[in-house]
Amino acid sequence: MCGIVGYIGNRTAYQIIIKGLQRLEYRGYDSAGIALYDDEVRLYKCKGKVRDLERLTTGHPIGGTVGIGHTRWATHGVPNDINAHPHRSKNGKFVIVHNGIIENFAHLKNELTNRGYTFESETDTEVLANLIESIYLENKVSVEVAVRIALSKVIGAYGLVVFSADEPDMVIGARKGSPLVVGIGEGEYFLASDVTPIVEYTDKIVYLKDEEIAVIRRDNFKLTNIRNDSMTPDITSVDVKIDNIDKGGYDHFMQKEIHEQPMSITDTFRGRVMPDKNTIHLGGISDVLPKLVTAKRIIIVACGTSYHAGLVGEYLIEEFARIPVEVEYASEFRYRNPIISSDDVIIAISQSGETADTLAAIRMAKEQGALILGICNVAGSSISRETNAGVYTHAGPEIGVASTKAFTSQVMVLTMMAFLLGRKRNIILPEQYRALIQELVHVPGYIEQILSHEEEIRNIAAKYKDATNAIYLGRGYLYPVALEGALKLKEISYIHAEGYPAAEMKHGPIALIDQNMPVFVLATRDKYYEKVVNNIQEVKARSGKVIAIVTEGDTTIRRMADDVIEVPTTPEALMPLLTVIPLQIISYHVALMRGCNVDQPRNLAKSVTVE
Ligand code: M6R
Repeated sequence: MCGIVGYIGNRTAYQIIIKGLQRLEYRGYDSAGIALYDDEVRLYKCKGKVRDLERLTTGHPIGGTVGIGHTRWATHGVPNDINAHPHRSKNGKFVIVHNGIIENFAHLKNELTNRGYTFESETDTEVLANLIESIYLENKVSVEVAVRIALSKVIGAYGLVVFSADEPDMVIGARKGSPLVVGIGEGEYFLASDVTPIVEYTDKIVYLKDEEIAVIRRDNFKLTNIRNDSMTPDITSVDVKIDNIDKGGYDHFMQKEIHEQPMSITDTFRGRVMPDKNTIHLGGISDVLPKLVTAKRIIIVACGTSYHAGLVGEYLIEEFARIPVEVEYASEFRYRNPIISSDDVIIAISQSGETADTLAAIRMAKEQGALILGICNVAGSSISRETNAGVYTHAGPEIGVASTKAFTSQVMVLTMMAFLLGRKRNIILPEQYRALIQELVHVPGYIEQILSHEEEIRNIAAKYKDATNAIYLGRGYLYPVALEGALKLKEISYIHAEGYPAAEMKHGPIALIDQNMPVFVLATRDKYYEKVVNNIQEVKARSGKVIAIVTEGDTTIRRMADDVIEVPTTPEALMPLLTVIPLQIISYHVALMRGCNVDQPRNLAKSVTVE
């Protein structure tokens, strides 16, 4: 996925676009570019980050009140100056920025080649720029009509912004499958992949729907669909504070987001969990609650960290509500012809609400009559709009590529859901319900306690920063946390790490253990405790290094493990919310000590809007 910014108005477009690209850099950061119109099109682009683009433009003309910009996560073609966006058509009539994949680009490219077009880059986007231009020149139609005809020939996904040197007082935005939003100001308009570059200037936002085309001039905004039917823009007022999208005094977004968790989790349950009344109310799913309570089966679909949250959800819902739950990688589920009935409830979990596989999975399940619910963080995102009902996590914008607060907020939603369903199905009795709710609201305070030990945890991280491999072990509720801990370490520090159910260690992974292997063991006091203690001994007997996450006051494991990190006592169902915190902190510090870019790890992008 990539980040797109467009501007038309009366201010200098350059600053707005550069700042917007910086805010969107979490979406992709292998190259960046900008095209401005100031009597002529000025195009600057390069491999690297937005700061490299700024360097490139230094000393060059950057005037103009119309422009488009892009920060890229490569799909077609390696990251280099030529493949960077914007792309200009052969005769210089059009410049375009694009997020998504044009699946029939090879076919379109052949057709254009036969008509004399040549291409500089390896990208599908340059093909689109030339397709629009060829239609414009050969059919002698307007810029708007050329864009519309071109898009009707495209198979695949796009969020794009394009403008023409022949009509530079107009920019056109369009979406199909990849997000694009329009911000409406006074005599100015903004386009972007999400609202973060826009909220500084206006809170009036239109989330484009699939196959909608926005034709924007300084004084008006026309919305149509691809067939040119007029559409009424649905103008939403967004409430995203600038503080939420800045580092707020922290060195990195990831660090800030780790530290925000007491607050983000509180925001997740605020107004939903009422400890004084012993109630949980999830307004977003209240209309469909009867169907959820009587569901024969729940299928959770998600990717990455959200999938790990889904696994915690499986343990929670099966234990407390006794409804069978399956958790599936969305990318597998969508293609394996799963058996879905109208008695099933599908829950899609996605921080961004834009993950292509998760979106496709719910579309497929919807066609088969299942009720589709969403657990999303980004309001107005595609998944949140395509689900029948859902619960927002309200974690606030998550900018760090490595997901932290989104995970804990997703788990919090699933916890509330499991407790609510359990009570409605009379599996949780009133007294237990009361006790669980009272404990739930203590979680933010417990996380504060863990965060206050960051310095000790950092010292432990320092001991293992040079490891080349790591193993994470957990059982029950803590098995998904082991997976999540391993994912955090590998994605930002590039240390190879794997998570396993602790009991599986003997079935293969134990062969890897030697004196160089750090083994992170989630070993809190729960029903598996004695067994996990045995696993620790097995690792120690093979000279492995054990870093154990234990319940406060545990002296047994302290005697065996090389390093111990304590978390407060809480019921085991709530332990994922606590035990993941030290693992996030360790990953963050290990990555920093290894000189890695924690907020923008190599090869990654914040959300994966392509297959
Ligand atoms: O936006 P989503 O939650 O749908 O994203 C799913 C994964 O791409 C995401 O969780 C990814 O694994 C994390 N960034 C990893 O930290």
